Amino acid sequence: GTISVVTKEWGAALGDMFGIFFEDINHAADGGLYAEMIRNRSFEFDPIDRSDYHGLTAWDKVELGEGKSSIVVEQTDPIHPRNTHYVAVEIIAPGEGVGIKNLGFNSGLPYRESETYLFSMYARRSTSFDEPIVVTLEGIDGSVYGKAEMLVTSEWAKYEVVLACSATDFCGRLAVVTRGTGTLFLDMISLFPTKTFRGRPGGLREDVAEMLADLKPKFMRFPGGCLIHDGSLNAEDRNAMYRWKNTIGPVEQRPPRRNNWHYHQTLGLGYLEYFQLCEDIGAKPIPILPAGYDPHHQRIVPIDELGPWIDDALDLIEFASGDAATEWGSVRAQLGHSEPFQLEYIGIGNEEVGEPFFERYAYFHQAIKAKYPDIKIINSSGPFAAGGEYERGWQSARDNRSDYVDEHYYMSPDWMLAHYHRYDSFKADDPKVFLGEYASWGNTYYNALVEAAFMIGLERNAHAVGLACYAPLLCNADYVNWKPDMIWFNNHQVFGTANYYVQQLFMHHQGDHLLRIESEGFATPVQPARNADRLEGKLLVGANLNACEYRDIRIINLETGEERLLVDQIEISDSEEDRIHTTQLGRKMVVGETNWTHYSFRTKATKTEGVRGFILYF
Ligand code: AHR
Repeated sequence: GTISVVTKEWGAALGDMFGIFFEDINHAADGGLYAEMIRNRSFEFDPIDRSDYHGLTAWDKVELGEGKSSIVVEQTDPIHPRNTHYVAVEIIAPGEGVGIKNLGFNSGLPYRESETYLFSMYARRSTSFDEPIVVTLEGIDGSVYGKAEMLVTSEWAKYEVVLACSATDFCGRLAVVTRGTGTLFLDMISLFPTKTFRGRPGGLREDVAEMLADLKPKFMRFPGGCLIHDGSLNAEDRNAMYRWKNTIGPVEQRPPRRNNWHYHQTLGLGYLEYFQLCEDIGAKPIPILPAGYDPHHQRIVPIDELGPWIDDALDLIEFASGDAATEWGSVRAQLGHSEPFQLEYIGIGNEEVGEPFFERYAYFHQAIKAKYPDIKIINSSGPFAAGGEYERGWQSARDNRSDYVDEHYYMSPDWMLAHYHRYDSFKADDPKVFLGEYASWGNTYYNALVEAAFMIGLERNAHAVGLACYAPLLCNADYVNWKPDMIWFNNHQVFGTANYYVQQLFMHHQGDHLLRIESEGFATPVQPARNADRLEGKLLVGANLNACEYRDIRIINLETGEERLLVDQIEISDSEEDRIHTTQLGRKMVVGETNWTHYSFRTKATKTEGVRGFILYF
């Protein structure tokens, strides 16, 4: 046979098609990409973040020799009104030294022989003593790998020292002790490797960030996901929605925040750092902002109070791309980045279901386009499986003339293969697709392979698909909220999955334009078998439900021509004998015409382990 590639005509441009999506899920930022080695550095952990958290989470008392102390978290005289908690070590008997030690993330603090570490803290002491404070890098058994002494005063001040490390130990501890008598007050106890990504102090873990850089992504969507819109409407609450202005400036002045993935978020990796990372790895930034609507808890900003939320979007654009003479451009310049970052895209909302979002989106859209007509705006659509809500996203995007619609789906490998042609029928003059989250359920080679096939389908439809990013990107193996994930790590190792290398392949070899390909003399591709027989009676659909309580059940039409299908009943079961949940649907579905069509509805399993699949009755 012959394959001809027509090089005389340009097809659709592939533009910025393949990028990455960063969300602080699975401890992707704190305990992940953000290189801070101390967990709960400012004693702000709180049951609001997670019910078993408290101000001393990840800290242990140190009492050496006959030492005796009492340790409490206080807030009467904080270092900053936004960083209210600090620890007071009351020294009852100094012994060989009393104080505290941090346990770090995973198995501990990862120390490497011959590396250096930047220690910093805020401290003050009672006037009753003036003995030095001793800081040690140590092992679980107290072996000392590095040590420094510091004199502190009775007023809050910041202290810093670089410590050299004499051993490799991935279960390390950091201890701060004294032999004085009285009370020692400590806050913002921090330890960073001096070697961070691109050498930025207080920056990113080199090995994890290099994995991102090695992908060569065209763009980076951040900072979430559900992370951005789950929270209260008051920006000063520690349970607030993700407000970008809370994430810039000195780290000790950034408010602590509940991360909706059930942990504490320091915001040390904030908007300036995100923009800087994008610049460092050559990815265009795609910030996503909340629209003043929390779909998880139905918190809704009244329309006449939407102004500050819209200002957040306009100010962010100025912060990123305004010159130093503008109000927010000058804030960026003062923070150390005088040159503007390039900002081409902004997203409003994430997977919102409900009219309050679409009503509010229109105000954001109009205000942004009025001031920044060249900025491309991404409209959110409800989760793909939510059917009507997903369609509502497209309708809103068409009504508002959004540049992109953000589609999200996590599907079985079979679904990915079956939907290779999904975008063939999408129109070039519609808003373009931003496939902001997608993955097949798994990190096996087979998953990676079907994702590669699916991505060819995206490339082939560059007339309709503008941007696509796999999700989630990062996962700390000891703090898993969601899997599969593209990159896995612990406190000292990082691994790319097969899915990672597929993404890398496409990013490294993305072309500029589609070219027409003609083939002659090959056998016609095998068509999917007609399977009317399979759709009669009952069908056990294999699905591993262990990780997820809810699953969408999909019926894919393998037929051509119109057909009517009556779904009587769905059962979720371990086996045909052991039924654990039954949904009576009795719902008629008209199965589509010639195209592959996707139908979905939701049901709930009453148990989450050992479930083998669904039985569909027709
Ligand atoms: O990627 C994980 C989560 O999946 C995202 O936060 C959310 O947008 C989606 O539901």
